[in-house]
Amino acid sequence: MRRFLPVPGDEPLDEVYADLDLPAGGARPHVYLGMVSSVDGSAVVDGRSTGLGGAGDRAAFGALRRTCDVILVGAGTVRQEDYRPPRAPEHVVARRSARGLAPRATIAVVTASGRLDPGSRLFADPTYRPVVVTSAATDVDHLAGVADVLRAGDAEVDLAGALAELAARGARRVLCEGGPSLNAALLRAGLVDELFLTIAPTLVGASAHRILDGVLPAPVDLELVELRAHDSELLLRYRVLPAVRGPDERPSGAEAPR
Ligand SMILES: NC(=O)c1ccc[n+]([C@@H]2O[C@H](COP(=O)([O-])OP(=O)(O)OC[C@H]3O[C@@H](n4cnc5c(N)ncnc54)[C@H](OP(=O)(O)O)[C@@H]3O)[C@@H](O)[C@H]2O)c1
Repeated sequence: MRRFLPVPGDEPLDEVYADLDLPAGGARPHVYLGMVSSVDGSAVVDGRSTGLGGAGDRAAFGALRRTCDVILVGAGTVRQEDYRPPRAPEHVVARRSARGLAPRATIAVVTASGRLDPGSRLFADPTYRPVVVTSAATDVDHLAGVADVLRAGDAEVDLAGALAELAARGARRVLCEGGPSLNAALLRAGLVDELFLTIAPTLVGASAHRILDGVLPAPVDLELVELRAHDSELLLRYRVLPAVRGPDERPSGAEAPR
């Protein structure tokens, strides 16, 4: 893996993001998105993200998971990608333990409908209890035996409230693995601190998904803080900048029309 930013150099794949020193958050956890996109902006191939990521992306994906207390994910992604509990090989447990983290991150699934199958493989491990994040209005009785339920919001899921509750339960860093609807909702609510994005060297053409599906009230500006390349994959780490401009304003330095 070739690193260009912040300090140029070469690093082995298993050292990518190995020394990530993410802030611990406060009233809410530090929230970072981990996503992969094709060069033409598709978040899926044949309906799944797994057709995009190569070795570099897999290394980053593993490292991002090793750093978090909670993996937040939308129910659409859980259903489409048949999520399962995180694996916990010895080297991962050792690295997590060195950071003071539990052996496995907790997967927290956000759902408005409660449409999750208690028989799916996410809920099949009796030693692992995911969290289902939903509102007071949603019936999730069918999941009570296989998951902990976190309710935030009355009619709709209150994502800020859910993150505050996760912080109260000890979560300091939350990795959001999408999908695009959840990403947009989090960004709309100003709840995202960083974006880790892999650009896969692929063109997909027409696609049902980009990394964000949903309207933002104004463009969200990003600052590039790390940049790596592995074969033809690009790994980018962006910091989300505070909202400073309205929907029709241009970014600073872009006053002249293109
Ligand atoms: N390229 C990548 O890195 C990447 C990463 C993840 C996913 N994906 C792809 O994205 C596609 C899925 O897209 P998607 O937009 O459907 O994914 P999603 O955001 O995971 O799922 C949408 C569903 O999640 C729940 N949800 C999301 N935000 C919510 C909110 N604010 N409040 C309440 N519930 C909320 C709802 O579940 P209910 O329907 O249960 O109410 C909603 O229908 C899949 O094809 C997947 O492979 C790609």
